[in-house]
Amino acid sequence: MTRILRRSALGRICLFGKHLQPTKVFGQKISRQTLCTNSTMDLSNMRKKYKGDEECFEESQLAYLDPIKQFGDWFDNATKCPEIGEANAMCIATATKDGLPSARMVLLKGYSDEGFRFFSNYESRKGGELESNPHACLVFYWAPLNRQIRIEGTVERIPFESSCDYFHSRPKSSQIGAVVSRQSTPVPNRDFLRQKNAELEERFKDTEVPMPDYWGGYMVNPSMIEFWQGQTNRLHDRIVFTKPLNGEASTDGFQHQAEGGWVYQRLSP
Ligand SMILES: Cc1cc2nc3c(=O)[nH]c(=O)nc-3n(C[C@H](O)[C@H](O)[C@H](O)COP(=O)(O)O)c2cc1C
Repeated sequence: MTRILRRSALGRICLFGKHLQPTKVFGQKISRQTLCTNSTMDLSNMRKKYKGDEECFEESQLAYLDPIKQFGDWFDNATKCPEIGEANAMCIATATKDGLPSARMVLLKGYSDEGFRFFSNYESRKGGELESNPHACLVFYWAPLNRQIRIEGTVERIPFESSCDYFHSRPKSSQIGAVVSRQSTPVPNRDFLRQKNAELEERFKDTEVPMPDYWGGYMVNPSMIEFWQGQTNRLHDRIVFTKPLNGEASTDGFQHQAEGGWVYQRLSP
C-alpha cells in the first residue's frame, strides 16, 4: 500500500511540477528532475539521514556480550518506540533443498537461549522448504531506530504440547482461521474461505477448536547474529556474533571472546 501511495504521490509531482526544486515527499528529499526524465521510476536520489558519528554503535556500547541478551536490549528499545507498529515482525528466508530462496514476514512469538520462536502452517511453502532444508535466516528492520538484526540458524519444530498451549491462547477467531487456511494452496475465491470459516464457527461454537496437525511452532536455533546500525556517512556499524566449534575466539583475526560459546567481531559495512 505504501508503495502504491508513494508511486501515485510521486506521479502527481511529475505531472504538476514545472520547476526542478527538490521536494519533500513522505520525509524524503527527492529531485523532480530525476523522477521526470526517466520513463522508469528512478529512485537514485532517495536518501534518508541516519545517525551522526557521535551516535555510532561501538563495541563498548554492547549492553551484553551474550547476543541473545543483546537482541533483547534492542528488541525492548524497538517495542518502546512509538513509530514501530510491530517490533516483532521479522522476515524469514528459507530455501528449497536445491537452494532456491523464498522470504516472507512472520511474527516472533518468543525468544530465549534456545532460540527464536514463531508459528506457522507446517504444510505451507515455508513449511515444505524447512522440511527438506532446515536452515533459515531472520531479519528484523526497525527503520525509526536505523537498526537491523540478522539471525541465521537451524530450525526445528517445537514440541506439540507447546504449540497446543499457544494455539489455545489465541482468540477463537484466530484458531478457526488457522484451521480454515491450508496456507499457500490455491483457493477458488474469497467466498470459499468465508464459507469454510462460517461452517467452522458454527461447528465449534460451544467446543474447543482442536489444533490441526498441520499447524505449530518452530524454533530457530541461532549460529550467527548480526547487529547493524545505520550511519549517515555510510560507515554503518556491524557487529557479528558467531559460534565457533570450540567456543573460543581465534587469536589470528579480529575476534573477541563473548559469552556462552559466542565470539564477536566488527565487519566492514
Ligand atoms: C506482519 C506480518 C506478520 C505475519 N505473521 C505470520 C506468522 O506469524 N505466521 C505465518 O504463518 N504467516 C504470517 N504472515 C503471512 C506470511 O507473510 C505469509 O504470507 C504466509 O506465512 C505464507 O507464506 P509461505 O507461502 O511462504 O509459506 C505474516 C505477514 C505479515 C505481513
